[in-house]
Amino acid sequence: MLISIRFILLFICAIGLMGCPSAENSQTAQNMAPLPNPPVNTDNPKALIVYLSRTRNTEALAKMVQEKVGGDLVALELQTPYPENYQAIVRQVDQENQDGYLPPLKTQIENIGQYDVIFVGFPTWDMQLPPPIKSFLNQYQADLNGKMIVPFNNNAGYGTGQSLAQFNQYCRGCQIMQSIERDGILFVMEDERANQAKNEIAQWLQDLSVNNPVIQQLLQNHATN
Ligand SMILES: Cc1cc2nc3c(=O)[nH]c(=O)nc-3n(C[C@H](O)[C@H](O)[C@H](O)COP(=O)(O)O)c2cc1C
Repeated sequence: MLISIRFILLFICAIGLMGCPSAENSQTAQNMAPLPNPPVNTDNPKALIVYLSRTRNTEALAKMVQEKVGGDLVALELQTPYPENYQAIVRQVDQENQDGYLPPLKTQIENIGQYDVIFVGFPTWDMQLPPPIKSFLNQYQADLNGKMIVPFNNNAGYGTGQSLAQFNQYCRGCQIMQSIERDGILFVMEDERANQAKNEIAQWLQDLSVNNPVIQQLLQNHATN
């Protein structure tokens, strides 16, 4: 009887040792976060400009950024598009935010690791990041770790809300740069408004480049091309 009790105790201890890591071990596991991905090429950096745009204001800004820094332009699309109706999309987005739902992307970006700087253009939705942008940051989180992320925003006059803070939440290891914010009620990126936006984008990029040799190099390389 005594032997079998000892055996049972030994068995429990063995299982405990195998299955339950000590506090020290779990600490080590936490410290083993993936190493940051360094910029691939600082002499000839490559930019990716990813954006979400429903009424094309952010798209217009994304094209202005591309004119200055070159690189590849990618519009994010969902596997199941949002409804066209404004009230319906507002209701759906509100529900997705409440549920923490990340809608699957139709757009897939091959070899995202080749890019040194990733510009992310988005409108404010529900005073936060639109769910497709959250999906993007979440899906490519490992590849974006340590990369330079440059947000740019468009909104209907209510500001960026929680969106900029959410970049850090959805992309923990990313280096988030200073964003630009524009008020883009309806489709206003035409004529005088477009010129004004172009100048603001140019000034913002110039300001970013002051302490940032990679952005400086992007602007310089593209200006001489
Ligand atoms: C679902 C949805 C939610 C929105 N929520 C906000 C908001 O919270 N604050 C705001 O300023 N604008 C909000 N807007 C307006 C957009 O940010 C604004 O119209 C922006 O210019 C759209 O950019 P786009 O033309 O690239 O789609 C919302 C628009 C949509 C479709």
